Amino acid sequence: MENLEDIRNIIDDCDKKLVEVFEQRLKAVLNILEYKRKHKLPIFQPEREQDVFKKVNLFLKHDEFSDELELLYHQILKISRKLQSKYLFPFNIVLVGFMGSGKTSVGIKLSTLLEMNYIGTDDIIVKNSGISINEIFNAYGEAKFRKLERKAIESLKDTRNTIISCGGGVVLDSTNIELLRDNGKIVWLKVSPEEVLDRLSNDNSRPLLKDSFTLKGLSEILKNRLPLYENAGDIIIDTDKKDVQKIAREIIEKLLEC
Ligand code: S3P
Repeated sequence: MENLEDIRNIIDDCDKKLVEVFEQRLKAVLNILEYKRKHKLPIFQPEREQDVFKKVNLFLKHDEFSDELELLYHQILKISRKLQSKYLFPFNIVLVGFMGSGKTSVGIKLSTLLEMNYIGTDDIIVKNSGISINEIFNAYGEAKFRKLERKAIESLKDTRNTIISCGGGVVLDSTNIELLRDNGKIVWLKVSPEEVLDRLSNDNSRPLLKDSFTLKGLSEILKNRLPLYENAGDIIIDTDKKDVQKIAREIIEKLLEC
């Protein structure tokens, strides 16, 4: 019977080969990235990922390991996406826009597609203060909230390669935008008041909309903020009547162009 050392040597040998092949694969991924950029081909192709899954299953000699193979390739494809994003977007992707423009859902979708980290400025505020946004507004008022918002943004100064979803009022303070632009590209998710009315009809988490949730009220706030969003955005995406997947894909395309 083999002894433990012998079996371990087999494993060590496998690991050596795996690491060599892994490195080779990652280099090929980067070569593909360069080729696609040069020839202006779409970078992220989910169909190709499905093909890879199918192909590697055919290479498998023992069906008993098919679950493990799937798990492995799930990770490998994630790592490939992450590596590509690291090269393509060595900055933060900052989402700004009115309440209900889809910053959170689009941000989460982008973070899956690009395998990038996701963070929301409102989430940082809630985590640091231990109470909800509604509670902060009720107990301390908007001015205090804006101070906490600025602090949250300052805390992101060393963050890179991350999707940052900002509260809708982040543009009210031009220093916020300067700080965010220092290490990020700013994407304005544009939305009409009609669409906001539709999207947020069952939502009462926005203190500023408590008394303004009518077409007139929303249009009024939006009108005041439009020039600020316009100035802040490096990229503008119209979100009306579009689903999250489509918006996320448009953002990736536009970011690759700029
Ligand atoms: C605000 C938007 C909210 C939140 C706060 C104030 C605003 O975030 O930061 O209620 O001034 O527009 P969402 O835009 O994510 O709803």
